[in-house]
Amino acid sequence: MSTVVLPGSFDPFTLGHLDLARRAAALADRVVIAVSHNPSKKGLLGLDARKEAIAATMAQEDLADTVEVRTLPGGLLVDFCREIGAGAVVRGLRSQLDLAYEEPMARMNRHLAEIDTVFLLTESSLAHISSSLVREVHALGGEVSNMLPGPSQQALVAAPDVS
Ligand code: PNS
Repeated sequence: MSTVVLPGSFDPFTLGHLDLARRAAALADRVVIAVSHNPSKKGLLGLDARKEAIAATMAQEDLADTVEVRTLPGGLLVDFCREIGAGAVVRGLRSQLDLAYEEPMARMNRHLAEIDTVFLLTESSLAHISSSLVREVHALGGEVSNMLPGPSQQALVAAPDVS
């Protein structure tokens, strides 16, 4: 059985992430969305809120049989991959800037454990969406609902106002 890991902060999980999860599920028998937990990184949504929104989205999209949601422990991503029997990491590329960020990590993961990274080119219509810009637009009062699956929208509404 082929397993791949789709790691990230997912703060919040966007329509771009959903597209990646769908496409990863078409490529592998099992997709593990690994949500990173960095208590020192000041984000918008807590770990549980992000995981719950992703799991609810997978259920809505009929992907729950293939896609599971886990916490990415603080250690190396490749150790997590080995622990769960994943052969590859999946990451999305919106632009060449993303590739510049991703390339060293992909090379390092391959060096450390011969874990390959499969890059999926982001759907053009979603290439402007990033969690960081969604957070910024949201914080400044802009409309972000059309960039997020329903459960992420609800998580944002329920998030404590930190402004
Ligand atoms: O959504 P993000 O914030 O771009 O995700 C980054 C993530 C979680 C994929 C990245 O920080 C990561 O792979 N962390 C695991 C730490 C690790 O293994 N580092 C060394 C090898 S690159």
